[in-house]
Amino acid sequence: MDRVTSNTMFLLLFCVCTQVFIAIRSHGAKQQFHKKIATGNINRTVRVTKMVCINTPYKHTFLKNCEMEEFPNGTVGLHISVHIPNVINYVEVIVKAYYKYTTYQPFMIDWNMEYCQAARVGRFNPSHALVMKIIEETLPEFYYPCPHGNRTYTVFWLLPARLLPQSLPSGDYRLDIFYRDSSKTDMFAMQMFAGVRRLGFIG
Ligand SMILES: *[C@@H]1O[C@H](CO)[C@@H](O)[C@H](O)[C@H]1NC(C)=O
Ligand SMILES: *[C@@H]1O[C@H](CO)[C@@H](O)[C@H](O)[C@H]1NC(C)=O
Ligand SMILES: *[C@@H]1O[C@H](CO)[C@@H](O)[C@H](O)[C@H]1NC(C)=O
Repeated sequence: MDRVTSNTMFLLLFCVCTQVFIAIRSHGAKQQFHKKIATGNINRTVRVTKMVCINTPYKHTFLKNCEMEEFPNGTVGLHISVHIPNVINYVEVIVKAYYKYTTYQPFMIDWNMEYCQAARVGRFNPSHALVMKIIEETLPEFYYPCPHGNRTYTVFWLLPARLLPQSLPSGDYRLDIFYRDSSKTDMFAMQMFAGVRRLGFIG
């Protein structure tokens, strides 16, 4: 199968980010999205190479499982099981992207959203709307209004490959995602590593 269609959180995040980026500069940005990453005459592949849980062990939650699975077609997903014993009414979702120069440097995405408030109000600014959409599509088990917690969340984090980034520079990327409680303590955190490679020229 085509590596380009790798299903990951990472891809969608970068995609939506790129979408916002493009939308700022031009209307009708959506029409520019294709399943194939072709910018002008340059094809790119985006491949997630690794996903890991970070900052473990967590203070108030229990990570019962965190295991990456790679399918023969190159798709990478993460099996996650987290027990959150407390009832929670505050979930801060933080998403940060990095691009590797010699070290990983912040790159384009630095999002921060309080999930419970956003779910309650139901009106989102564009970056919140994107984060909500990602949660809805990747973590359906988590996508309900607060209170949360008092249970175990078990998910396999794998995205339907619908939207893909359009014009990312080639290179290595890292995406950090944090879920924090009201005391700013990680309930869960993960890192994804991905490479964007130029394939060649066409036409
Ligand atoms: C890769 O394989 C997995 C497991 O069989 C499947 O869920 C996924 O949709 C496949 N991805 C692509 C791009 O074919
Ligand atoms: C926690 O969950 C259990 C079982 O689902 C339920 O009976 C109990 O009322 C919940 N506790 C709180 C504080 O929500
Ligand atoms: C680039 O993409 C086009 C279609 O979008 C495809 O026909 C072509 O084979 C691709 N080139 C490479 C090098 O993958």
